[in-house]
Amino acid sequence: MTNLLKTPASWPRPLLGRASAADPTDLDAAVKAGAFEGLRKAVRTLAPVAVVAEIKAAGLRGRGGAGFLTADKWQLAAATPADRRYVVANGYGADPAARTDPVLLERAPYTVIEGVAIAAWAIGAENAIIAVRATETEAIRRLEAALGAAEEAGFIGADVLDSGRQLTIEVRPVQGAYMLGEETVLLKALEGKRGQPEQRPPYPAERGLFGRPTVVQNVQTLALVAWILREGAAAFRAIGSPDAPGTILVHVRGAGGAGIAEIPLGTPLRAILELVAGKTRGKAEGGPGAPPKALLVGGPSGGILPADLLDTPYTFADLRAAGAHVGSGSIVATAADADVVELAELLTRFCAGEACGKTIPCRIGTRRLEEIAVRINAGTPRPTDADLLADLSADIVASALCDHERLATLPMSSVMRYFRPELDAKLQPATERAAGRQRVAVADGEPAH
Ligand SMILES: Cc1cc2nc3c(=O)[nH]c(=O)nc-3n(C[C@H](O)[C@H](O)[C@H](O)COP(=O)(O)O)c2cc1C
Ligand code: SF4
Repeated sequence: MTNLLKTPASWPRPLLGRASAADPTDLDAAVKAGAFEGLRKAVRTLAPVAVVAEIKAAGLRGRGGAGFLTADKWQLAAATPADRRYVVANGYGADPAARTDPVLLERAPYTVIEGVAIAAWAIGAENAIIAVRATETEAIRRLEAALGAAEEAGFIGADVLDSGRQLTIEVRPVQGAYMLGEETVLLKALEGKRGQPEQRPPYPAERGLFGRPTVVQNVQTLALVAWILREGAAAFRAIGSPDAPGTILVHVRGAGGAGIAEIPLGTPLRAILELVAGKTRGKAEGGPGAPPKALLVGGPSGGILPADLLDTPYTFADLRAAGAHVGSGSIVATAADADVVELAELLTRFCAGEACGKTIPCRIGTRRLEEIAVRINAGTPRPTDADLLADLSADIVASALCDHERLATLPMSSVMRYFRPELDAKLQPATERAAGRQRVAVADGEPAH
């Protein structure tokens, strides 16, 4: 069971606030706490376009990592002519070290189901799938129990809330590698095929599952949809930051502990870290609560940020500007004496190993990045390695077919950007050797006087 971190009472909790620890599958208790009010409002009082307008007014961005505007996808899917449309809830959780999505599914299954039903109503879908990592058996069990109860009560099924519209929601356990979380790979897997990322456009919202318009949305995004419909777009906008309203789940690991917390977007990294480590100022060097040397933000393809960026607000745009990303919602504080160049090597190896191989600059380029990192850490760097790192990273980013390619360069790029003295110290043997060779060459070539 993953630890839920205590957050300040003043922090709103649209995602986990109504989660019942006693029995999250108890429909009566969930309804008493407000479950399906948003769906009822949508179906009884709002046309599908008005639902999309409400999500647009809320400024909701997807929680699956990239922060894309949710309403834009819905608009596209609803406007694309088709005989059927789908909603796919992405609960795969590609980074198994960040258990934010399974924890949401375990603790608030009805909130996710309600969000799926609202999305289906908005785009005109009669079929939806909630994809969950197959090893998350408790999340799957609770979702299935909740779906059964919701159908029996008429919230989903043959006649959703007597609207004349039907909605079938299926839980689909899926298992695969890291790339399975990427939406086009996930869609292929749901079609029963082996998948690699597809060039976009066309986006899944136009041509997705079985070639039909498909809204793929992270499970947190859908849970927030339920809250927005119930409480209103203005209430949602009052939480978080202007460009990224609302809350998000993060999985934090630091010297003082670990756990999952629901935080308003825009919360500074320092305040997030303090949820596990106590105050990060004024503690003895190296002790619990002491500032870490660096933070790995975004999962295995995340950015390594130095401690002097602890005041960076946790938003999609601010993290991107700092050279990290929201990604899986993972935030890891390193030890005060961590070797960040070794950490970057480890992460680059993971990213290279997970590259699906479809795009040559990614497949070969990430392996080359890894080899350079290995040389540098082994004390056998080449004089050209610093330039090669920069050029290769830029080339890989420029030829990206899917986001993995761009993100795979982040660990080494952040070392180049923020930990240059440390990197240079490891590059030095090569520079010195080169200088030594040059001196010998000059000495050898000197004309005798
Ligand atoms: C390598 C890779 C792994 C991903 N893994 C996940 C994942 O586990 N869960 C998820 O929701 N999105 C993941 N994404 C993002 C999805 O492709 C997609 O953008 C997201 O599911 C859309 O939902 P959202 O708009 O609600 O964020 C991943 C992307 C990449 C490139
Ligand atoms: S960029 Fe990398 S992970 Fe993405 S499709 Fe190409 S090889 Fe696969």
